Amino acid sequence: MLRRVLLGQWILVVGVGIGLTVVGCRTVTPGGECSSDADCPTGEQCRANQCVPIVIDDCQEDADCADGEVCTDGECVDAAPVPECAEDVDCADGEVCTDGECVDAAPEPECEEDVDCADGEVCTEGECVEAAPEPECEEDVDCADGEVCTEGECVEAAVDGAALYADNCAACHGAAGNDGFAPDVTGMDAAALTTGLESASHAGIELTAEEIAAIETFLGA
Ligand code: HEC
Repeated sequence: MLRRVLLGQWILVVGVGIGLTVVGCRTVTPGGECSSDADCPTGEQCRANQCVPIVIDDCQEDADCADGEVCTDGECVDAAPVPECAEDVDCADGEVCTDGECVDAAPEPECEEDVDCADGEVCTEGECVEAAPEPECEEDVDCADGEVCTEGECVEAAVDGAALYADNCAACHGAAGNDGFAPDVTGMDAAALTTGLESASHAGIELTAEEIAAIETFLGA
């Protein structure tokens, strides 16, 4: 009786052993735990011959992600922006590379003070510019005879009284107006000159009011 029980137990042990061996025998790749997901328990997948928990990936490649994202370890993450430049030489002329971006180079100031500039130039907002010219005159008296002061410059008077007198009157009234054979005309005003010029002695002399005024000035009225 005892032998039978022992025999029965032995058969059971052997049977279970064989059964376990058959059921438990899996096709495995040498050196690995699995060769396909089917070799792994539920909830696991075969990765690199290892059964690992199944993780539901966001993505498998960058194309699975939105624009500006890349697929990293199954997750879509913001792509690091591609820098526009690494060095100044990567940028256009007049630009420098700052934090990966080409930006306008701050212009190097040409000067800081007037002394940084050439003669006759002044430093204005970092640039050497032509200095405003020193005015040549402030009033007509600062200029030569026959010239007037216009915007700081002596220019030929539009009507040159001295020249008009010399050309038209000096022959008879003298160079200064009181040293000719004709009467002294110095100090005469435009009205008196106009009247005087109406005499026969002045036939052929035609002057405008402006010219007579210039002669009046020359004669010292
Ligand atoms: C050809 C010679 C001649 C020239 C040129 C001449 N004059 Fe006379 N002028 C005379 C004579 C001569 C008189 C005096 C007689 C008379 O009044 O006509 C005179 C008289 C005058 C008088 C009057 C003087 C007074 O005391 O009443 C005025 C003013 C005068 N001239 C101005 C001029 C001016 C200005 C010019 C130049 C634009 C000029 N004349 C050119 C000969 C000349």
